[in-house]
Amino acid sequence: MDDAGVVRLGSAGAEGMCLVQTVDYFPPVVDDPYLYGAVAAANSLSDVYAMGGQPLSALNLAGFPPGFSDEWMMEIFRGGFDKVREAGAVLAGGHTVRSQEPQFGFSVTGLVHENDVIDNEGAKAGDVLYLTKPLGMGPITAANRKGVLSAEDLALAGKVMATLNRDAAKAMVAAGAHAATDITGFGLVGHSFNIAKASDVTLRFDTQALPLFPGALELAKQGVLSGGCARGRDAVGEHVATASDVNASLADILFDAETSGGLLISIPESAEARLQDELAKLDVMVERVGHVTPAGSHRIHLD
Ligand code: CO
Ligand code: CO
Repeated sequence: MDDAGVVRLGSAGAEGMCLVQTVDYFPPVVDDPYLYGAVAAANSLSDVYAMGGQPLSALNLAGFPPGFSDEWMMEIFRGGFDKVREAGAVLAGGHTVRSQEPQFGFSVTGLVHENDVIDNEGAKAGDVLYLTKPLGMGPITAANRKGVLSAEDLALAGKVMATLNRDAAKAMVAAGAHAATDITGFGLVGHSFNIAKASDVTLRFDTQALPLFPGALELAKQGVLSGGCARGRDAVGEHVATASDVNASLADILFDAETSGGLLISIPESAEARLQDELAKLDVMVERVGHVTPAGSHRIHLD
């Protein structure tokens, strides 16, 4: 293997093409090593998709404690590399170190045409908001760590987390989304706040319409959440207005961390039908979850 991967860009017809570069890695979120690798890869690739880009190449970052099972290590790599291949990206190299706990992820480089870049600052009052994966991975992964999650729920959660945001991204680019982000460590509220602030608008969520992972609400009611919930409330709680009839445990989930979550898409109402069509064609789950208003006294409303 060379010291670094080199990818040639076509010279003719490459005008306006931009590189999208991102890096992310985290400790195991599921017990199945293959699935952990796949989820970590899907999560790393997701930031490229959230910008409207296509992944081109990926560099692997891994850390394992001394004495870590070789067999598990190979499975984690296999899960990650299979997912990179599924995304159509080239695995250009990587680096593995010793670490206290396992860590696994990728630095991903993607391509996007300057006209297709979808960032955080384009949301406009009057837009509608769509979400492409269910919420609640905080309680689910916390329950898994406690050993109280059923095998079926874990398998379903793993499948959702390992699903690429590729098709959701394709659909939002085709439909002309104004802004988008992927819902990961800062949870729905934290990532929505970034869009609201960058776009100088307020996002209003219809909490009844938010898709939840089965069992997540029951777990949250028992106080099973990741540490992300408290951090989220500390970080952006003052910018969030929660209606008095919103279930407190549901609100906890919205502040809690997600892992490899879906895209939150802000799109003009006129393009809504197009987005729904595109997503249905590609078989992507989608829910209309709210709308955008001019900036008010709070950046986020949970209605
Ligand atoms: Co990240
Ligand atoms: Co992101």
